[in-house]
Amino acid sequence: MGEVADGLKDIVASESSISRIELEGEEAVLEYRGYNIHDLAKHSNYEEVAYLLLYGELPTKTELELFSEELKERRELPPQVVGLLTHLSPFSHPMVALRTAVSYLGTMDRNISYTSHEISIEKAKNLIAKFPTIVAYFHRIRMGEKLVHPDDSLNHSANFLYMLHGEEPTETMVKAMDLDFILHADHEFNASTFAARVAASTLADMYACVVAATGTLIGPLHGGAAQRVMEMLREVALPWRADQYVREKIERGERIMGFGHRVYRSVMDPRTVELKRLAEKLSKEKESKWFEISVAIEESVRKYKNLLPNVDFYSASVYANLGIPDDLFVNIFAIGRIAGWTAHIIEQYETNTLIRPRARYVGATGRKYIPIDER
Ligand code: ACO
Repeated sequence: MGEVADGLKDIVASESSISRIELEGEEAVLEYRGYNIHDLAKHSNYEEVAYLLLYGELPTKTELELFSEELKERRELPPQVVGLLTHLSPFSHPMVALRTAVSYLGTMDRNISYTSHEISIEKAKNLIAKFPTIVAYFHRIRMGEKLVHPDDSLNHSANFLYMLHGEEPTETMVKAMDLDFILHADHEFNASTFAARVAASTLADMYACVVAATGTLIGPLHGGAAQRVMEMLREVALPWRADQYVREKIERGERIMGFGHRVYRSVMDPRTVELKRLAEKLSKEKESKWFEISVAIEESVRKYKNLLPNVDFYSASVYANLGIPDDLFVNIFAIGRIAGWTAHIIEQYETNTLIRPRARYVGATGRKYIPIDER
């Protein structure tokens, strides 16, 4: 038996042609299907990135128009799913609601167990289109507000904000949401994607794989961190209080949410670079304090622990400035990531080897069985 690699640290589990992370000296490079994340952030939009992840190539103008139309046609939820959302406790975490709705969608798919390329692409488009609707509908239902149905005249990001807030978002808000979805669309073998791939490696249906992914993303060490970052920003409340807050937390041996990363240990995550810029822009426009507090926290964490902010850190102030409630932050991550999850599930189906590692047993061995009345 080989060496134990706790947490599969630095283990290359498989090959993939979806996204590439390369640490090049002082800089980290992240590419989706060979395209640099900074170029996509500058020139692309979420629909185009979702197409790229699913099909492996950038679409032509006509292909993109068709794809965007197909997503629009699939946005509305079956009435049974809306019924389910209304029956969930309004106190459920919105990510639990999303996970439950995905599982329920699976009960309505006659092709649930088919894993062919064409059928899988259909399921992926359906999930990409419906994720924003599930999140917005559940939020409005739990707040006791009327549902705002999808608007075909709006793109993916604009329509999500419209369904969530019940009013058309500004151009700045749409651009910010779109950029955020692009930046969260994929990230190699992160924990939730890997969970999806483990499920896919058993040839489980796509809904089961996505449920595994959503169940993994919610954890505070993964996508659930952004909500905790926001709680920290609220607790710190003023930039000058950041230093003491961070120092005391580090002294108590506690983790600062939104810092540290399994892959980007001494190099800045390129997504954080983009999100920091976006958070600054939005905070200036909204005249909010979140960016200033975040920068103060970043400086103190660097001073006391030499850790860098991860993708979740500046996401928090971006979302707060977009008027998104704290407990929806992880759902926003999922709306972006569903494109990557489904692309990885399809790749796993098509290059499959069952994922089944070994464990080094460290418990007791060779014990003598004692019948129950003699114990
Ligand atoms: N705050 C304080 N110390 C930290 C933090 C943190 N956020 N992150 C890492 N460290 C310290 C650890 O205590 C450890 O120190 P030590 O060597 O003195 O014991 C060292 O840095 C290495 O940490 P590990 O936990 O071994 O690193 P690992 O790669 O296993 O963990 C993780 C990565 C889980 C992301 C970690 O950095 C963490 O808990 N961060 C906070 C949660 C968070 O922000 N998660 C979002 C990650 S991004 C994403 O998933 C989308």
